[in-house]
Amino acid sequence: MSEAIRVGVVGARGRMGQAVLQAVGDAPDMNLVAAVDLGDSLSALTDSKAQVVVDFTNAEVAVKTLEFALPAGLACVVGTTGFDDSQMSTIRSLIEANPNVGLVIAPNFSIGAVLMMSAAAEAAPHFDSVEIIEYHRKEKLDSPSGTSKATAEFIAQARSKAGKPGFLPTSAEAKARGESVAGVTIHSVRGEGMVAHQEVVFSRDGERYTIRHDSFDRESFMPGVLLAVRTIMNRPGLTLGLQPLL
Ligand SMILES: NC(=O)c1ccc[n+]([C@@H]2O[C@H](COP(=O)([O-])OP(=O)(O)OC[C@H]3O[C@@H](n4cnc5c(N)ncnc54)[C@H](O)[C@@H]3O)[C@@H](O)[C@H]2O)c1
Repeated sequence: MSEAIRVGVVGARGRMGQAVLQAVGDAPDMNLVAAVDLGDSLSALTDSKAQVVVDFTNAEVAVKTLEFALPAGLACVVGTTGFDDSQMSTIRSLIEANPNVGLVIAPNFSIGAVLMMSAAAEAAPHFDSVEIIEYHRKEKLDSPSGTSKATAEFIAQARSKAGKPGFLPTSAEAKARGESVAGVTIHSVRGEGMVAHQEVVFSRDGERYTIRHDSFDRESFMPGVLLAVRTIMNRPGLTLGLQPLL
């Protein structure tokens, strides 16, 4: 049997970090070698000879993780969401400067969410309107969620590929109309007890088509995280989303 993959986790005391520690600890082909959180030095990753770094922190911290890990040759799996354009451009520059290292950034590691995004892309050319409603815990830092923004981008790309115009405009005067991403309106609901939930609501004359996905537990993200850890060392460059790894 080949040697176990040496994994370091950043954000180890967080909700997702705790679930990753458990999943990596339970995986027979992985060794958890570093668990880093606020106040710890990232050098624990290199000191422990980690091969893959998993980051679930916040956008600012994740960029720092990548600035440390990619030049050190450590493959990275990032589940953190909320990167702005400037942070994404820093990340792209880091990958260009370190082209032999693999990095996957996925706003949602659950299999059901990936399928929801594919279904939304498939439906996009066939309807006149679409809006997304996403639901997360009230402490979530970013809105709209990374998953909803990725879904909106997929919908817009699929529609443009099919040669269809943008969706029908709604009243510009109306209030409480959410945020537009790639021409798709997204509404963000925040509340106690929520994990990650999303509805993509398509409509046209006489019919409505709703695609809904619910993550009830953080365990739902773990098969996707472990898949990314297993594949990213042999996949140099930037991979966006889980789809290409499935
Ligand atoms: N990709 C996915 O499938 C997925 C799923 C759920 C959540 N998320 C995202 O993952 C991220 C984390 O979510 P969470 O619910 O675990 O949040 P959380 O607040 O529970 O955990 C974040 C952790 O990061 C730590 N941290 C803060 N600053 C740090 C620093 N300088 N160095 C090291 N660690 C530091 C915090 O102490 C905390 O333990 C968020 O961006 C969230 O949107 C992604």
